[in-house]
Order: sequence, then C-alpha cells, then structure tokens
Amino acid sequence: MTSLYERLGGSDGITRIASDLVDIHLNNPRISSRYVDSDVAALKHGAATFFIAGTGGPAVYGGKDMRTTHRGMNIDAEEFMAVLDDALQALQKNEVGQREQEEVLFVLYSMRGEIMRL
Ligand code: HEM
Repeated sequence: MTSLYERLGGSDGITRIASDLVDIHLNNPRISSRYVDSDVAALKHGAATFFIAGTGGPAVYGGKDMRTTHRGMNIDAEEFMAVLDDALQALQKNEVGQREQEEVLFVLYSMRGEIMRL
C-alpha cells in the first residue's frame, strides 16, 4: 500500500494542507488567541515538516517534540477538539479521501496525551 505521505499528495499536498490548517486556526475563535505571538510562516513550516516526516515523507522536522512544544499551555479538551475540527476542515478543503481523513484524525487523536493538560 502507498504511504499516507503519498496519498496526501506528497510534500506539495501536505504543505498546502498545513498552511490551510494554520489559517483555519487563526480564524477559529476557540483557539486563535493561542497563536497571537506566533510567527505564522514558521508555524506553517513546522506543521508541514512535522506531517511530512510523520507520514513517511522526506522532510526533517526541526522543531521540538509535542510534549515540549505544548508544555505549560494547559490545553483543555475543548481546544484539542477545535484543532481536530480544523484539521478535518483543512483535509476536506484539499479533497483528501475519506480513508486518509480518518487515518490523519486517528493519528492526531492518538497524540492527545502529549498535548493536553501539560
Ligand atoms: C494533535 C494535535 C496537535 C499537533 C499534532 C500539534 C502540533 C504542533 C506543531 C508541529 C507545532 C510547531 C512546533 C514547531 O515548529 O516548533 C505546534 C505549535 C503550537 N501548537 Fe500545537 N499541535 C496540536 C494541538 C494543539 C492544540 C490543541 C493547541 C491549543 C489550541 C496547540 C497550540 C500550539 C501553539 C500555540 C503552537 C505555537 C507555538 C509557537 O508559535 O511557538 N496545539 N503544534
């Protein structure tokens, strides 16, 4: 079976999805305040390389691990769900298949222990 990386459209596809995801976060009133101090270009780059590397693609993610990145933010379940909702929206906007949407959502959901309430 081809890798999730390939099925998401490779580096170009994932870069577009990650960019849309960050834009959707910035317009989501449930979480946008979290990103007021963020460098948007750097955040998009971090999100894209994290996903490319994590799905079997060639990028190197140079950011911190998820626990370190989100430590001290005390992210609650509602915020976590908001990010998953945004991810689904970004995937659908880029016409990713149903199965691939499910795989990405499952991977993201599995990371909740490294993101929430730290
Ligand atoms: C499974 C869910 C999540 C994943 C995979 C994830 C992943 C990431 C990644 C890859 C970065 C970039 C790190 C870097 O480039 O160094 C990041 C940054 C960030 N995340 Fe998350 N994240 C998730 C959920 C959340 C949630 C629920 C919130 C709160 C609403 C959140 C808030 C942030 C903030 C504020 C930053 C930016 C920090 C900065 O600008 O320096 N994340 N996240």
